[in-house]
Amino acid sequence: MTAKQVRQCMIFILIAAVMLAACAPASTEAPPAATEAPQEATEAPAPTEAPVEEITDTELNVLCTPQEQWCQGMKQEFEAKYGITVNYVRMSSGEALARVQAEKDNPQFDIWWGGPIDSFVAAKGEGLLEAYDSPNYANLSDPVKMKDADNQWVGVYVGTLGFATNTDWLAANPGTSAPTSWDDLLKPEFKGQVMVAHPSSSGTSYTALATVLQLRGEEAGWEYLTQYAGQVAQFTKSGAAPAKFVGQGEAAVAIVFSHDIVNEIENNKLPLVLTFPEEGTGYEIGGMAILKGAKHPQAARLWFDWALTPEAQALGPTYAAYQAPTVTGVELSHPELLEVNLIDYDFIWAGEHKKEFVDKFTNEIAGADNLKE
Ligand code: F6P
Repeated sequence: MTAKQVRQCMIFILIAAVMLAACAPASTEAPPAATEAPQEATEAPAPTEAPVEEITDTELNVLCTPQEQWCQGMKQEFEAKYGITVNYVRMSSGEALARVQAEKDNPQFDIWWGGPIDSFVAAKGEGLLEAYDSPNYANLSDPVKMKDADNQWVGVYVGTLGFATNTDWLAANPGTSAPTSWDDLLKPEFKGQVMVAHPSSSGTSYTALATVLQLRGEEAGWEYLTQYAGQVAQFTKSGAAPAKFVGQGEAAVAIVFSHDIVNEIENNKLPLVLTFPEEGTGYEIGGMAILKGAKHPQAARLWFDWALTPEAQALGPTYAAYQAPTVTGVELSHPELLEVNLIDYDFIWAGEHKKEFVDKFTNEIAGADNLKE
């Protein structure tokens, strides 16, 4: 087999694993609720069973990176199930990483849920995460890819990068068409018509940057990124925002995770068409980790275990979140978002180079002042 064939094989295996996951039963149930009244013991527990930990934490501080609606929904679901108060703050990936770094000696959050794992890889490299051996790792469809070897982070969803083009703009500009390659974004008609987040604040944008570097190699990749930045009307802070702004007519094309584009089309009825770069697109594994020094470690472990159950991962579409699950036993709401040409995205490489690449982009290509909110 050639290297290319090996790569194609690996990508096929990943997609197959995520899609087959929908069919297989999950193996581990969530732990018992913290507020549930103790059950009357009917028989003595088997001597080999681990004792159930008494949960004394009454609140949990979550650093939440997915869309606001999903963060809010997960807070309510967890509170209803376990009777533990959840306080969360929604922050884009780069901001979240900066916050975790700044609070290293006095963490204000217990658990970080969501956002591409390159930020988690970077945080692990700085000793900011707490290892946790969850019993629910057994539910993962692809534990090798979806979990840190030292149990410091785990994947909780998967999403692919796409392009969102305003269909009214296409109609008003005869001869144009929605981009189907990274090169299409450089066409003259898209000059000043592209919207994307800035990679310093956004995990979506950093995924696009790392995708281009992996597809083209570093030298040609940086050359492309310089031209691509020259097409951008305005950089935003959050990764999903460009789909909304483009849908509202502020520019022609947005580079955004495809599930966020689906949300704008299906729920907000914006005039957008979703396309993918045919030569290959990048994708995220949305991560989760307990922060080192967490003040509510029991509640953090409870959330961690719960977020790895099919029951919790099936909640996404209820809150307009169409990312694919990472555990078995959950039906995919939009399987077609994974049935695209994916590159063999190297998450560890992307995480280990995050600071270097973000600094290079910010200092040499486009600064991060005045990001559109
Ligand atoms: O809106 C949801 C989402 O696209 C997640 O899938 C992703 O992990 C996160 O947003 C990234 O947000 P940002 O690009 O703002 O860091």
